[in-house]
Amino acid sequence: MAVDDTTSQDRTASRDRAGSRGRSGEPVLGSPAARREGHAKVTGAARYAAEHTPPACVYGRPVPATVPHGSVTGIDDSEAMALPGALAVLTHENAPRLGEPDDPILALLQTPQVPHRGWYVALAVAETPETAREMAQAIRVDYAEEPHDVLLRADHPGLYHPEEANGGYPADQETGDFDAEYAAAPHQFDATYTLSPLHNHPMEPHAATAVWEGGHLIAYDSSQGATLVGTTLAALFGLEPAQVTVVSEHVGGGFGSKGTPRPQAVLAAMAALHTGRAVKVVLPRRELPGVVGHRAPTIQRLRLGTRDDGTLTALGHDVLTHTASFKEFVEQAAVPSRVMYGAVGIRTGHQVVPLDVPAPSWMRAPGEAPGMYALESAMDEVATALGIDPVELRLRNIPDREPDSGKPFSSHHLADCLREGARRFGWERRDPRPGTRRDGDLLLGTGVAAATYPVYVAPSTASVQVLGDGARPGYQVRVNATDIGTGARTVLAQIAAEELGVELDAVRVDIGSSDLPAASVAGGSSGTASWGWAVHKACRELRESGGSIVTVDTATDVRSQEDYARHAFGAVFAEVAVDTVTGEVRTRRLLGVFAAGRILNARTARSQFIGGMTMGLGMALTEQSTLDARLGGFVERDLAAYHVPAHADVPDIDAHWIEEHDPHLNPVGGKGIGEIGIVGTPAALANAVHHATGTRHRTLPLTPDRVG
Ligand code: MOS
Repeated sequence: MAVDDTTSQDRTASRDRAGSRGRSGEPVLGSPAARREGHAKVTGAARYAAEHTPPACVYGRPVPATVPHGSVTGIDDSEAMALPGALAVLTHENAPRLGEPDDPILALLQTPQVPHRGWYVALAVAETPETAREMAQAIRVDYAEEPHDVLLRADHPGLYHPEEANGGYPADQETGDFDAEYAAAPHQFDATYTLSPLHNHPMEPHAATAVWEGGHLIAYDSSQGATLVGTTLAALFGLEPAQVTVVSEHVGGGFGSKGTPRPQAVLAAMAALHTGRAVKVVLPRRELPGVVGHRAPTIQRLRLGTRDDGTLTALGHDVLTHTASFKEFVEQAAVPSRVMYGAVGIRTGHQVVPLDVPAPSWMRAPGEAPGMYALESAMDEVATALGIDPVELRLRNIPDREPDSGKPFSSHHLADCLREGARRFGWERRDPRPGTRRDGDLLLGTGVAAATYPVYVAPSTASVQVLGDGARPGYQVRVNATDIGTGARTVLAQIAAEELGVELDAVRVDIGSSDLPAASVAGGSSGTASWGWAVHKACRELRESGGSIVTVDTATDVRSQEDYARHAFGAVFAEVAVDTVTGEVRTRRLLGVFAAGRILNARTARSQFIGGMTMGLGMALTEQSTLDARLGGFVERDLAAYHVPAHADVPDIDAHWIEEHDPHLNPVGGKGIGEIGIVGTPAALANAVHHATGTRHRTLPLTPDRVG
């Protein structure tokens, strides 16, 4: 094991590849190369979806339903259409008919049904955005209201056991005999943790600009995967995939909310078809909570049975959550309990109730973020109850093989993360007694939690072409990867440069268009491994063949991977100060150590780790969405009400990593790092609040009204 947080170790010499060094003599892959599009972004030259304005472009403004459940009985657009510059009002009565979508949220303006408050019932189209907005407000919609129910409760009669949870995991699973082991355990622990819905709220709201050129549809869309948006639009509009071009060149964050096609692209394409003009649709921030997914609320019961030394004999994790009436999505919060700790009996399960709510979907580390909050809080409670150090308790429970599957881990460095984190944090000086450290009116505490995230990889295609024929050739890489702020272009250039044995600036990278070789979405922390595998393969074949252009796909490579359990791990340490007068929790220190395979760019990797940890800080302390029982819909609909962490909330976050050499991943060697940073952070902070105050809160966020 080696720890290195600024530069990657030089391992190129021992690898079967050409290797590459920049002018400074540093290896290219692993180096902290700056983002290629950084200058374009900070100077405003980089264009996002709403910044593409084709000639004669007009503007669409959606109309959200103002009832929580029911159907549209009439629409009066006469006042709206009388406004100067008004062009059209699309409704279920006149909008283009769409093919049946795989995702029911995209069946827009096809029926009068209103499954939840905020569902789009019309689209106003006008010469200017101002007129479109005025039209949207002037359209009169009549509804037949039906009763609604938006609240998840532990005793809800509609709860059922689904077949699968998100990610294709079996919803219910048992290894060994949980009931018998739990009953026989000398120490039993049983507690329930409750999490509210959460929203992704990327900086850039969802936006699309669409134009039809003959029978060809061009859409600039804020998306985490233009390939999927392209095939989806083709199916909806009855086109061949080659008749659709989707461009997602720069994307201002998504966190899962842009991982699946969203209403803006479909609405813009419909309106463009209807009006014969280019149409731009920018979803207003306050409408996002209703139409671009959310993290579903969870009620999680944890039952842990242990021996005297804290080793687990029984682990039960039962999750209750909600889904939409028209679409099943089950947040797989119990799934990390199948991976983390060895116990003789492990039972994990999910129940879900369909409610009159918007469809929940992916939000950064779906499953792991809420599930590990509950599991790692429970582990802390066990440590406190048994008087065992929380780091030591986790070390004692690390399994030899993946508990539920029995498969060997491809690599497993949780113990190293815990030990290295403890060393850097100064954990050995910690007094375990809760509620005993004061600084004036403040109570101080520290906490730890482990993190895990699975390694996903998806088939992708990529091409590489030799440019020019001079003494110092250039190379053009093409792959429909998406940069959602991660620095995808840069790391793909590094992968190509290393494999080709050239300097970084000899490689050009084109990403972000469905006209490029098809690639998987920027989601599930799988982007770099998936696209990088294809880029690596293309470059290797180019180098070995001596040709001038090579196109590859990795479907066979990905499918023929060996049978290992592949997961990234981490450990997060937190120190908080709790104001005993106001109940305010301030983060003083936050430190993460991660083991996620080979780190391919030290700068952008650190940025992802601390970004994930910042989002975990928000989940722990400030972020919450509330469903309104009376009105339906979400209460917090702007960034004044939905509190993402601001700079003043975030101390100097420290992220480090273990250099992990895992030969069973992919040729590039990375596990994916986009999500693991959020995973351990909420429990680490919550455990620190308990250590500070002596009071255990089993719900988030830890806002002053709860803590005070
Ligand atoms: Mo992430 S929730 O897989 O975009």
